[in-house]
Amino acid sequence: MLRNPMCATCIINTREYKYTLSIDRRRATMEKTSQLFRKKSFVAITGGSKGLGRCMALKFAAMFPPNSVLVLMARNVDAMEIVRTEIITLTPNITVIIRQYDQGKTDQGYFDDIFDSVLSENKITKGDFEQVMLVHNCASTGDKDRTGLQHCDGDRVRSYFDINLCGTILLNSSFFKTFYDPSQSRVIINMSSGAGRLPTPSLSLYGTGKAARDMFFRVLSTEEPSVRILTFSPGAVDTVMLQDIEENTASHGLRKVITGLRDDGKLLTPEAAVDNLVDILQAKTFKNEEYIDDHYKLYQKYH
Ligand SMILES: NC(=O)c1ccc[n+]([C@@H]2O[C@H](COP(=O)([O-])OP(=O)(O)OC[C@H]3O[C@@H](n4cnc5c(N)ncnc54)[C@H](OP(=O)(O)O)[C@@H]3O)[C@@H](O)[C@H]2O)c1
Repeated sequence: MLRNPMCATCIINTREYKYTLSIDRRRATMEKTSQLFRKKSFVAITGGSKGLGRCMALKFAAMFPPNSVLVLMARNVDAMEIVRTEIITLTPNITVIIRQYDQGKTDQGYFDDIFDSVLSENKITKGDFEQVMLVHNCASTGDKDRTGLQHCDGDRVRSYFDINLCGTILLNSSFFKTFYDPSQSRVIINMSSGAGRLPTPSLSLYGTGKAARDMFFRVLSTEEPSVRILTFSPGAVDTVMLQDIEENTASHGLRKVITGLRDDGKLLTPEAAVDNLVDILQAKTFKNEEYIDDHYKLYQKYH
């Protein structure tokens, strides 16, 4: 129906239509989210070899129904084998696949058939799943021993964004090249960071990469409304990544923040951070491409 933008009745009708539509969407969203862990799923977790990725894999394996498939993706195969053993011991009815990859290899073709080959090599049919999910969890922190003015090596800066931005985008496209059917429930979790919002000394590359990724997924959510996207910032979690920042940051202030959180018992364990994520996924309330960070205010206090 054509609407005259100057006509009051049309404006009211359009508003009512939009309002009804938003309630319907909200209901559909809530419905979908509440059932998220009940659906037989194909779940790929990048950075699944340690830290939050390992913990998420263990937790998700215990929550998704039998015959769901978990794909662990990272560079260190031995570490992923250990995670696979841990999962299978606790939840033997889940299939765990290891896919070695380097998210920094952005040469043409590297990402093209990753998920098609995971399916065919493991004799899995994508139609077997009610839901597919990709967790963009892999990340590196870059040269945190430098300030913004000290990034002078183009190759190092480019390499940082290859891993943390280009690789994420290319892997994401590869995923949707395989799982293109909008009638299948498709979920993306973008692991973000407060450093993408709060300027954090010595983490200029890390914060810039996170901010850019967040915007990428915000745009994607407008282009692909059938895809459920959650951007989640876990807070300060005691992993190798955080310990590395604490030891090697060029910022005395940032080290003080992390040490202060540690001394006050405010650092989260990976288990607690993943529990928070699971609560959000189960709570039925997150809006599409909502950015969730409950820790923002706490960290401001330490600055
Ligand atoms: N820890 C925190 O306090 C914190 C706070 C806010 C946000 N986050 C975010 O949460 C996510 C997980 O962090 P984490 O603390 O668990 O980090 P982590 O312990 O350092 O783990 C990072 C993961 O990324 C993988 N990875 C790194 N470079 C890779 C590459 N080039 N190709 C493929 N995989 C690669 C690593 O596996 P391999 O080495 O085996 O490749 C590892 O599994 C990240 O997105 C991080 O930014 C963490």
